[in-house]
Amino acid sequence: MPSIATPSRLSPIELLLKYDQPVPRYTSYPTAAAFGPAVGAAQMAAQLAQPSSDPLSLYVHVPFCRHACWYCGCNRVTTQLGSTVVAPYLAALAKELELVSAAMPQRRRLAQLHWGGGTPNYLNAEETQTLWGLIAQHFDLEPDLEASIEVNPEFLSRDHVLQLRSLGFNRISFGIQDADPEVQRAVNRLVPVEQLRRAMDWLREANFDSVNVDLICGLPLQTPERFQTTLELVRQLRPDRISLFSFAYLPELLPLQRKIAADDLPSQRERITMLEAANQLLTANGYDAIGMDHYALRGDSLAIAAREGKLHRNFQGYTTGGELELLGVGPTAISQFTQLFAQNHRDLKAYYRAVEAGQLPVERGLEVRDPAVLERRAIIKAVMCQFQVSVELDRFAGEWQQLQALAADGLVQLNQQGGIGTLRVTTAGRWLIRTIAAVFDPQQRQQARGSRLV
Ligand SMILES: C[S@@+](CC[C@H](N)C(=O)[O-])C[C@H]1O[C@@H](n2cnc3c(N)ncnc32)[C@H](O)[C@@H]1O
Ligand code: SF4
Repeated sequence: MPSIATPSRLSPIELLLKYDQPVPRYTSYPTAAAFGPAVGAAQMAAQLAQPSSDPLSLYVHVPFCRHACWYCGCNRVTTQLGSTVVAPYLAALAKELELVSAAMPQRRRLAQLHWGGGTPNYLNAEETQTLWGLIAQHFDLEPDLEASIEVNPEFLSRDHVLQLRSLGFNRISFGIQDADPEVQRAVNRLVPVEQLRRAMDWLREANFDSVNVDLICGLPLQTPERFQTTLELVRQLRPDRISLFSFAYLPELLPLQRKIAADDLPSQRERITMLEAANQLLTANGYDAIGMDHYALRGDSLAIAAREGKLHRNFQGYTTGGELELLGVGPTAISQFTQLFAQNHRDLKAYYRAVEAGQLPVERGLEVRDPAVLERRAIIKAVMCQFQVSVELDRFAGEWQQLQALAADGLVQLNQQGGIGTLRVTTAGRWLIRTIAAVFDPQQRQQARGSRLV
């Protein structure tokens, strides 16, 4: 049968407005919304007891921030107490790493390491050194370890940047969000443009392999005109990667966001205009668009992996490493194995209590053994990472039927041959990739969950 690819008559703005429903980001399938109390320390211990000689990816959650940015949806604790809170946190982390190591039959190698937060550069130089040392004590770091860290540029210093690089970090990410002073005031995050420029100079001086910046579209007082200031700054800074997030505004769930007046938020049309302006500027300046919200310079490993169909996805978003098991340590951290998700206690005190009692600090999770669910995971991952997938038509007839409407709008190209259907995400469909993946998620069809697209 010939390929069905009807060019869309709708503009990108109209398409986004038409399909703008809450959808998961599919950093995993099933998503964290399905986690429950059936998974705890016992299931995690059984998983860790499985012998394996494969290298691991390790995620370390550093929960502290010096002040609260009002838009923030991350798992974090705001405190100015510095070392007073960091010392017990490092002690607990040391215990957790000991418990994890004791549960594993052999010492494991690390191919990827990521410190996220909160704000990992809340730790001072000595504390940073201690945490790196703890990790090196329990794992063999591979010579080509991909080590990344998230930092807040507001509190970054040249010395700290050079220390991070000399410890072994080779990738770094910092939040810009928006460079306009009015917008920054409206979200309680004041970082002068001069500091952002200085931070970038230090990162270049330290010779990081890859520098990422985070931007948020949809913040209060943002307008398409004001957002140009931020985009122009990013063009000049020329980071290797850009994450352009759409502001997830959930004031019922996140009390801090109630400090943001709903009236100050840009309209949906303004948000889409800003996303389009960013897309135009970045693609005209040497960046490839990856999925809906990532950009990478054409020579960056993320852009190369996307072109070669070798992208992967885990709770940190897109990655270039192979399909590694992900071990998460620290409060709220999520571990991701083929058949098990396990999330640590989100409450800092509960996390401390568990490790002090000698227990793996797992609060909740999900076991996934059903081959049908694992198959759907592979399909959703292929859509999100390879931007194409083939399915048996007799087994996915309902989904294939649903895809016809997306094909009519030019979001996917469909081909069928000998009982196999192949879908390819088009350039227009890239903006709606989560919506396309959601066709294969039965829970999502029953009840729309996740964050709005724009
Ligand atoms: C842990 S922070 C990054 C590191 C550091 N704490 C900082 O702020 O620079 C993770 C990123 O999540 C994004 N983020 C947080 N809350 C968000 C929200 N409600 N909607 C969209 N993006 C959000 C921001 O872009 C932020 O930089
Ligand atoms: S955006 Fe970063 S610094 Fe601001 S509150 Fe969230 S985690 Fe902390």
